[in-house]
Amino acid sequence: MPVDLTRAFPPFALRVEAGPLSLRYPTDEDVAELVEVAAAGIHEPERMPFYVPWTEATGDTLRTNTAQYFWRKRAELSPAEWALPLVVRHDGVVVGVQAVETRKFLVTRSGETGSWLGMAFHGKGIGTMMRRAICALAFDHLGFAEVTSGAFTDNPASLAVSRKVGYVDNGRHRLERREGELAVNVGLVLTPETFDRGNAVVEVSGAAELRRFIGLDE
Ligand SMILES: CC(C)(COP(=O)(O)OP(=O)(O)OC[C@H]1O[C@@H](n2cnc3c(N)ncnc32)[C@H](O)[C@@H]1OP(=O)(O)O)[C@@H](O)C(=O)NCCC(=O)NCCS
Repeated sequence: MPVDLTRAFPPFALRVEAGPLSLRYPTDEDVAELVEVAAAGIHEPERMPFYVPWTEATGDTLRTNTAQYFWRKRAELSPAEWALPLVVRHDGVVVGVQAVETRKFLVTRSGETGSWLGMAFHGKGIGTMMRRAICALAFDHLGFAEVTSGAFTDNPASLAVSRKVGYVDNGRHRLERREGELAVNVGLVLTPETFDRGNAVVEVSGAAELRRFIGLDE
């Protein structure tokens, strides 16, 4: 019998479809595929697009860390603090992750998007489509008032995606990225008024179960 954990863990019921893309909460089978996409490379080794430089690890250490990240987010999901690190498929092929995460959402109605794609899938418009899809989920189905993001000044692709989708600059922070390395992070914020949906038609199912689980419809 196939494993069905949707009553125990309603995020597994969520489905977001946008043209050739589908996003869902990753099962262990999806985690296994994501681990291999990450291990094949998300960016050139000399670059570091992430605040937490998790892609400095390589090989099986990166595989373990990546799998444990998804399990930790599952284990810790609660109305007080939750993350949806959704697995993204393009024409059925696992290509990466589009996440949104938040704390105290019932009060703040705000959360931060983050994403990555395997290097083989960069530069084909997938990053823009998946960001539009998660923002449509956030605004149309989960009651977000705003979505934030951030990217280092040396990450033009991420900044271009944010700007195409309608995020506006929201301050800069000087941070230590890898040990001893200064990097400037550009804060970004998106509201429904500035959200540029492009021509994406985003279809969502399973949001009602998720809303109850995160305390929205009690
Ligand atoms: C960021 C990321 C998710 C974007 O996804 P993507 O599918 O490559 O993005 P898209 O193809 O939809 O759009 C990329 C845009 O950046 C632009 N771009 C890419 N490299 C650029 C450069 N060096 N200079 C200027 N613009 C650039 C592209 O022209 C495109 O804009 P356009 O459609 O207006 O031409 C992907 O590149 C990625 O996974 N990068 C590594 C991980 C990462 O940086 N994650 C985000 C951390 S903040």
